[in-house]
Amino acid sequence: MTGRTEPGTIVLGIETSCDETGVGVVRLDDRGGVELLADEIASSVEQHARFGGVVPEVASRAHLQAMVPAVHRALATAGVRARDVDAVAVTAGPGLAGALLVGVAAAKAYAAAWDVPLFGVNHLAAHVAVDTLQNGPLPPCLALLVSGGHSSLLDVPDLAGPVTPLGATIDDAAGEAFDKVARILGLPFPGGPHIDRAARSGSSVFLDFPRGLTSRRDLERHRFDFSFSGLKTAVARWVEARERSGEPVPVDDVAASFQEAVCDVLTRKAVEAAASEGIEDLLIGGGVAANSRLRVLCEERAARRGIRVRVPRPGLCTDNGAMVAALGSEMVARGRRPSALDLPADSSLPVTSVLAW
Ligand code: KG4
Ligand code: ZN
Repeated sequence: MTGRTEPGTIVLGIETSCDETGVGVVRLDDRGGVELLADEIASSVEQHARFGGVVPEVASRAHLQAMVPAVHRALATAGVRARDVDAVAVTAGPGLAGALLVGVAAAKAYAAAWDVPLFGVNHLAAHVAVDTLQNGPLPPCLALLVSGGHSSLLDVPDLAGPVTPLGATIDDAAGEAFDKVARILGLPFPGGPHIDRAARSGSSVFLDFPRGLTSRRDLERHRFDFSFSGLKTAVARWVEARERSGEPVPVDDVAASFQEAVCDVLTRKAVEAAASEGIEDLLIGGGVAANSRLRVLCEERAARRGIRVRVPRPGLCTDNGAMVAALGSEMVARGRRPSALDLPADSSLPVTSVLAW
């Protein structure tokens, strides 16, 4: 069974890899583009905040409760009936195993009940695909994917085809570093948006924090890799010393200096990778792509090298169902073979597998 690909084809996407239950609905338009009809999100983030990180069991239970109402809301917002849906896409991995299972089970049930094809897609590729909803068809691009679980540089010649990883974090993900440093500074979870906000009234040159894997020696072996755990430790040590001395911690300045160190390395390596691969479009995706400083610095540095930057609006950067529907619609439009109904959830699905069976 393959999906209908004529204009008007409607794809419903389900995302449950972490703490957001996302259901998106898109429609293929008659110019080969995709139109976003609905993007419903139910987040369990507040239930995790007091633990300082996502608790997998709590996330799974929240997905179970939120799933069916979110699907109903998405269909109502999109103004489509269940029988109008032509294909169901779902995040098959990577992510939290129990959380993924809820979405995959729901997607199978809807696909079977509605008798439409099922596409199990890669969460990271979906973070790239979401850009098409805002900026149109994607040319071959270099993708900087920065989220709570991943920080990668990917060569993406074609959204529906294999991607080549050029580099990745060797320890913490960029979003993880934001979350851990926020905790050190007494800011709420998830820390990224709070650091972003605090940094606006701080000085980015207050402290010169280390830039991981940028020394000449590191660049030989880890040219396009990242490391943020040394930076996080440097922030922790500085804050501890300050507290011991009895002086107040200038939260805004530390946040701005930390954020600058992360954004400096991410943008420097991303622009360098695009330039060295001869790729003219640089896409930023994932939750950390919502960061205001990252967006500005990336634009500045890319422009100097003649590279165009594509970045979705912040609400599409963090996890959502629209991104899954966007990648699913790409699979339908290309006539890709759907996943089987016994599709497993794969918590460590490699970034090279855009589609899962
Ligand atoms: O993509 P995402 O929603 O979930 C994962 O797939 O991990 O990313 C979540 C991460 C969190 O670590 C969060 O702190 C970070 O994205 N984040 C930000 C911002 N908004 C979200 N980091 C920096 N600045 C932001 N404005
Ligand atoms: Zn994500």
